[in-house]
Amino acid sequence: MRIEKLSKKQKLILKFGHQKKYQGYNSIICDGAVRSGKTIIMIISFVHWAMRFFENASFAVCGKTISSAERNIIDKVFSLSDITSFFDAEYNASKHKLTIRNGEKENYFYVFGGKDKSSYSLIQGLTLSGVFFDEVALQNENFVYQSIARTLSQKNSKLWFNCNPEHPEHWFYKDWILDSKGENKRKSFHLHFLMNDNPILSEEEIEKAHSLYSGVFKQRYILGKWVAAQGLIYPMFSKNMITKRTDYFGDYYISIDYGTINPFSAGLWVVTDKCAVRLKEFYFDSKKAHRQMTDEEYYNELLRFSEGYSVKSIIVDPSAASFIQTIRRNKKFSVRKANNNVLDGIRLTGNLLKQGKILINENCKDIIREFSLYCWDEESKNDAVKKEYDHAMDDLRYFCTTVLQFNPNFSGKKTSKKASYFLDEKELNEYY
Ligand SMILES: Nc1ncnc2c1ncn2[C@@H]1O[C@H](COP(=O)(O)OP(=O)(O)O)[C@@H](O)[C@H]1O
Ligand SMILES: [Mg+2]
Repeated sequence: MRIEKLSKKQKLILKFGHQKKYQGYNSIICDGAVRSGKTIIMIISFVHWAMRFFENASFAVCGKTISSAERNIIDKVFSLSDITSFFDAEYNASKHKLTIRNGEKENYFYVFGGKDKSSYSLIQGLTLSGVFFDEVALQNENFVYQSIARTLSQKNSKLWFNCNPEHPEHWFYKDWILDSKGENKRKSFHLHFLMNDNPILSEEEIEKAHSLYSGVFKQRYILGKWVAAQGLIYPMFSKNMITKRTDYFGDYYISIDYGTINPFSAGLWVVTDKCAVRLKEFYFDSKKAHRQMTDEEYYNELLRFSEGYSVKSIIVDPSAASFIQTIRRNKKFSVRKANNNVLDGIRLTGNLLKQGKILINENCKDIIREFSLYCWDEESKNDAVKKEYDHAMDDLRYFCTTVLQFNPNFSGKKTSKKASYFLDEKELNEYY
């Protein structure tokens, strides 16, 4: 692939590191919306800068993990003729070492994962002339500072950062983006990107992205803002997602958030080609009932609840070990432990709701009630949900992350190529 057209901000990335007027800056920071064209041009500019000013020097290329760095950066180095037509590149995958040559001259680029424990000690042995941090806000703060320390003895070293916004209390935002005059004063050249800074995204694609996200994730990934999560977690839930109809046909699933002292919530779902419908629910609040149920009693409720449906599998709160055992022991249902990555799950569930792919039968009063109460913890210094009114919300999320995420009718991969950009599993996992 060859880059033919650049936006204004992308041109500035190319100039950074090459033009005299940027010499006073020892770092560049590109933050903002996803898919806004930050990474690709930074890679080109970084490699050309390294090859122009250094010889037999070492650099670090850091992603959230080694494999995300390889996918987002190393693969791009080999696919961009803006790099390959100037230089020869060779990647040693077992050493995670990229060598780039220009005639007699060569430089070495070591790949690290800012969340990988092993990277932390490995980087300590190096002296670096520059570091490229892709998605720096997802990397460990200590790792990032350790890497920066490796550049301090090198003359003319530069740091290259890019990221999508996170919580405004995030260390990278406070120390690097906001802190232009505090005691950590650093000379950073800062560029803020929005989707229209990527010249290949059409209006249609940008609109599509807008329609997929809402709430805090829209503010951050689409509008590029460093904002705290506030208010309701699923503000997109609306009356038109509530249905009277029960005549849906497809595969049936039950999702369960287990509780003995806290409420126990189960939803019976039918998954059609177009949508998933919560047909009915079982919600037991031991405090209200003034009695607790045993696993066997819950299991008997489950038998009653599923009567008349051929249930493909039951998805259960992964921490409910004893209840999972009870279901297994009875050998009637196939049971799966739910994927319990909370923030990924909330984002996925929000996307699916926003697209109208989840419907709730009007009899499911408890999930409808929780939709109007489930909210972010605004006191928290990172993204956290308030741990209340979250029982049906959790069983819904388990269902989305464990069943719908892998169904092509829901992941967007089959229906629309563009949508997959925003719901790709790997990419979702990159963010947290
Ligand atoms: N000027 C450009 N010409 C061609 N493709 C581009 C250009 N800018 C960005 N892209 C493409 O758009 C997509 C998103 O760009 P990327 O740099 O990965 O965005 P970000 O890092 O902001 O998420 C990538 O597939 C990239 O190759
Ligand atoms: Mg990127």
